[in-house]
Amino acid sequence: MSPLKVWTNRLRGLLLQWLLLLSLLSATGSFRSKIFTKHVLRSNLSTSFYVLDDTPGLDRVFDGIGGVSGGGATSRLLVNYPEPYRSEILDYLFKPNFGASLHILKVEIGGDGQTTDGTEPSHMHYKGDENYFRGYEWWLMKEAKKRNPNIKLIGLPWSFPGWIGSGKSWPYDSPSITALYIVSWILGAKKYHNLDIDYIGIWNERSFDIQYIKILRKMLNQKDLDRVKIIASDNLWLPISISMLLDDELLDAVDVIGAHYPGTHTVQDALKTNKSLWSSEDYSTFNNEVGGGCWARILNQNFVNGHMTSTIAWNLVSSYYPQLLFERDGLLTAKEPWSGHYAVEAPIWITAHTTQFAQPGWRYLKTVGHLFNGGSCVALTDGLGNLTVIIETMSHQYSQCHKTNVSFYQVSEQVITFFLQGTFKELTMLQVWYSKLGKKPWNEIFQQLPPLKINGAFSLRLDLDEVYTLTTITTGQKGSHPTPPESRPFPSNFEDNFNVGNSPFSAAPHFADQTGVFEYFTNDQNMAGHGFTLRQVLNQRPISWGEDADQTISIIGDHNWRDIKITCDVYMEATMTGGIFIAGRVNKPGSFIQSAQGVFFWIFANGSYAVTSDLETKMVMKTGSSGAKLENWYTLILNIRDSSAYGMLNNRVLWKAQLKHLPRNGWAAIGTHSFEFGQFDNFHIQA
Ligand SMILES: *[C@@H]1O[C@H](CO)[C@@H](O)[C@H](O)[C@H]1NC(C)=O
Ligand SMILES: *[C@@H]1O[C@H](CO)[C@@H](O)[C@H](O)[C@H]1NC(C)=O
Ligand SMILES: *[C@@H]1O[C@H](CO)[C@@H](O)[C@H](O)[C@H]1NC(C)=O
Ligand SMILES: *[C@@H]1O[C@H](CO)[C@@H](O)[C@H](O)[C@H]1NC(C)=O
Ligand SMILES: *[C@@H]1O[C@H](CO)[C@@H](O)[C@H](O)[C@H]1NC(C)=O
Repeated sequence: MSPLKVWTNRLRGLLLQWLLLLSLLSATGSFRSKIFTKHVLRSNLSTSFYVLDDTPGLDRVFDGIGGVSGGGATSRLLVNYPEPYRSEILDYLFKPNFGASLHILKVEIGGDGQTTDGTEPSHMHYKGDENYFRGYEWWLMKEAKKRNPNIKLIGLPWSFPGWIGSGKSWPYDSPSITALYIVSWILGAKKYHNLDIDYIGIWNERSFDIQYIKILRKMLNQKDLDRVKIIASDNLWLPISISMLLDDELLDAVDVIGAHYPGTHTVQDALKTNKSLWSSEDYSTFNNEVGGGCWARILNQNFVNGHMTSTIAWNLVSSYYPQLLFERDGLLTAKEPWSGHYAVEAPIWITAHTTQFAQPGWRYLKTVGHLFNGGSCVALTDGLGNLTVIIETMSHQYSQCHKTNVSFYQVSEQVITFFLQGTFKELTMLQVWYSKLGKKPWNEIFQQLPPLKINGAFSLRLDLDEVYTLTTITTGQKGSHPTPPESRPFPSNFEDNFNVGNSPFSAAPHFADQTGVFEYFTNDQNMAGHGFTLRQVLNQRPISWGEDADQTISIIGDHNWRDIKITCDVYMEATMTGGIFIAGRVNKPGSFIQSAQGVFFWIFANGSYAVTSDLETKMVMKTGSSGAKLENWYTLILNIRDSSAYGMLNNRVLWKAQLKHLPRNGWAAIGTHSFEFGQFDNFHIQA
């Protein structure tokens, strides 16, 4: 029987129960008016009826709600937060019964390339190289597990180190090398961090290769990683679904079909595979109340319209400089480690409406879906008698998602009545959690309302842009930490000598690599005063995902900086053929890094210097001889005041320039002329 048929059959019996309910109403006057009152029935609002019933069997298994760290470098600034703020932020994201209480953490498998808001380091920069302590995703996974041991972990590559493609910008040239690279990451997670990776992806939003997926499955099984499930292909529904329907071995190899930004819909061919369907990347919307509305709508409707049983937000936390792409498209905003300021945004609490009251492994009920006057309802059960109902009435205007426009639809105020059947018939009380988004002023988000006493049925009066959770689960909590410190700009006087000794991270605080990878480095030989440095470590162009520049560059500071003095010791290693630079007023990051402008002060391996107004070194302002040689340390100073600038090398003024047609403001930066080894020390900014 179709769910609709079930519903109409039941409706007949339900009308009788409705009459019964009317007689019960006099006993319910004490409920808060918003929830359930006689007023509900006296009003002329349209009323519709729904059943919460498990007798027709249950629908799909719920796989959980998650967030993506990476794709790319979206958690970059989070790791530098001082305590207690860093732990507080992690609590809001991961701690059960506290905030977003996420079920899934999906991380980027760093591949050295630019993947939207920066690069993340690979565990294998070079052939034969292995290091499972680079970057911050290991740390983040451990922090998530510490708070919720049941959290599911997903790894997915965006870019790959260059050697994987043996010269070609393509990761499937030798599928078994790529599979070994990915399986090594999973084994390293276990060996060095005791992390069990639950799911592994193919290549984010790029081509999949059938042969590669089969080899990956075989290699996982050979390494006793049978329990690691494959998600494919983190892109569109159709190509992977059709391939799976035509190929039994591929069908067996893939456990989950993950589509990105599906706009709450799936396709018949995906359904035909009988696999779990996930929105494996979604949301990507500014995290104000409209972002909250988008998230509330898709969390319900990805299942209601598209049978999807997991939705994962890009991104987990907006921890990148605000002028990078997709500012604040995270569940939470934490972009000021220097002040400790962070903001728990609407999507955190919208997430809580689902995550605190249903767990992976619960199943959806078949008997609810769209509401007659707009909005939607999902209901889930643990099969042990617990019931969680989540209702959203997001208006079109206040729930637009950035990447998926929905054509206009109407939602109106309405009264809805539920009848409880099957296992749920005997329930006498439901906890109530409520949010109101949409038109300002709104200040009610994830509020606990008095429990609702029920007797086989209950009604709610719904307004626009509301979310209700009605549940038997009593452990819900709106967690809170003390108000974080005030927002402050990046310090105008900032120094780093990179003498860290035992940092848990491979990168220096606040440097946001945009092409190349900059890591703490310890010089073997006794290099006076420069034992500990920061080093650009790539010697080959990665298999790009975004747009890597031909030069390497790491930005730092404040995009509003105008007048600035940058002092930095630089070292061209023996293998360097290009050169090394420091820069100010660097204006473009992320996928636009190739065309970044600014004031770039270069010294080259051939003994010359140049001042350029672009990273690509096409717009040369000054050039001449510097006398600088390989394998020597030099102190460079770049001083920019208003429309003039000068550069010094070891206390000698090398050049002075008048600046024309330049960006008026931008970050400070360091980098190299190509993918080559160069070192930096005693970095100092005065802005
Ligand atoms: C309900 O009825 C009143 C009086 O007839 C009318 O003013 C009001 O607009 C109606 N409300 C709705 C939501 O239809
Ligand atoms: C999916 O399940 C249906 C019903 O059990 C079955 O007829 C169909 O062959 C299955 N499809 C695949 C691709 O296994
Ligand atoms: C509901 O869930 C709680 C907590 O997981 C559990 O203790 C209880 O047995 C479940 N069943 C019912 C009917 O409450
Ligand atoms: C969505 O609609 C807005 C406004 O109508 C438009 O600017 C934007 O390009 C659309 N986005 C997509 C992904 O279609
Ligand atoms: C020195 O090297 C740089 C970078 O390769 C190049 O742009 C420049 O033309 C060279 N200068 C001389 C004098 O060879």
